[in-house]
Amino acid sequence: MQELGRLEDLPKDYVEDLRKLNLVPLWPSLRGVLPPKIPTRQTRPTHWPYASIKPLLLKAGELTPIEKAERRVLVLANPGHGLEKMQASAAMYLGMQLLLPGEWAPSHRHTPNAVRMVVEGEGAWTNVDGEKCHMARGDLILTPTGLWHEHGHDGDQPVVWLDVLDLPLVYYMEASYHINGDRQAVKPGQGDRAYARGGVAPTTVFQRNDRRYPMLRYPWVEARAALLSIAQDQPDRECVQVTYVNPETGEDAENILGFYALMLRPGQALRLPARSPAQVFHQIEGRAEVAVEGHAPFTLAEADTCCAPGYTAVTLRNLSAYQPAFLFMADESPLHRKLGVYEDRG
Ligand SMILES: [Fe+2]
Repeated sequence: MQELGRLEDLPKDYVEDLRKLNLVPLWPSLRGVLPPKIPTRQTRPTHWPYASIKPLLLKAGELTPIEKAERRVLVLANPGHGLEKMQASAAMYLGMQLLLPGEWAPSHRHTPNAVRMVVEGEGAWTNVDGEKCHMARGDLILTPTGLWHEHGHDGDQPVVWLDVLDLPLVYYMEASYHINGDRQAVKPGQGDRAYARGGVAPTTVFQRNDRRYPMLRYPWVEARAALLSIAQDQPDRECVQVTYVNPETGEDAENILGFYALMLRPGQALRLPARSPAQVFHQIEGRAEVAVEGHAPFTLAEADTCCAPGYTAVTLRNLSAYQPAFLFMADESPLHRKLGVYEDRG
């Protein structure tokens, strides 16, 4: 490939003249922004073990009252992007959030989309747009762009959840902001009850629900049962996976990030192809090895989280020969597909 001219090859006064006019020569940076064959990725394979996070999160509960934090979160930051950037990948933000018994995280809404994956504890709830969503281990709760949400906790043990947001992307777009609001009244109706069974949707005099987000809570008991049912029905099927979708349209549950649950059969190894989006793995049940191509494998214990850059194959291995392992995944697929840059390189 042809070597291109460098900035140093140009006369200093010429470069200075360009700078004064806010002009930049492209050719010294061309290969940097358009590298050959594969993008430069700052996202580094990174593992965040829950056993190390939990004591520090509980310590944050002692050090900082909720009024001083609003959201008591330790951000799972990718060192490849620089910790201060607070991003797991180009488009994904991950945070481990703690809510103590009796605490209330005030009502607000914002432009980035968020979801919560409940890690541990009972008795917390998220009120999203008036719908009170109970939070139990493995439940996925959506707080999509523009919807009011607040968290409360009526239980007696700390509750922890993993926040997944498209904040880095929305911030980069200079479109990230929030608005604070008043405590929300609880409205009747629960999406997870209305859409409790696959293949049928609630109808009002032949009219389907046209809300963009008809379902806000995806109970883990349902997703887990779906995975077990698929595995049982198709014993030879290699990839036992479900996608969290809008039950009215079948589209991805949110606009920018995709969310999935995956089951590994006892002892199973599953190779996920090199696809363009970066991805995040969170262990819901069991233990799994996550081997990101070209990197030493991670061992995920329950509640551990890791990420992998895009354009990289990942092999998952269930470390138990007797029990299935269950993983939650998040990725940037909806974004890549909408932008027309999605690739599966096999
Ligand atoms: Fe929020």
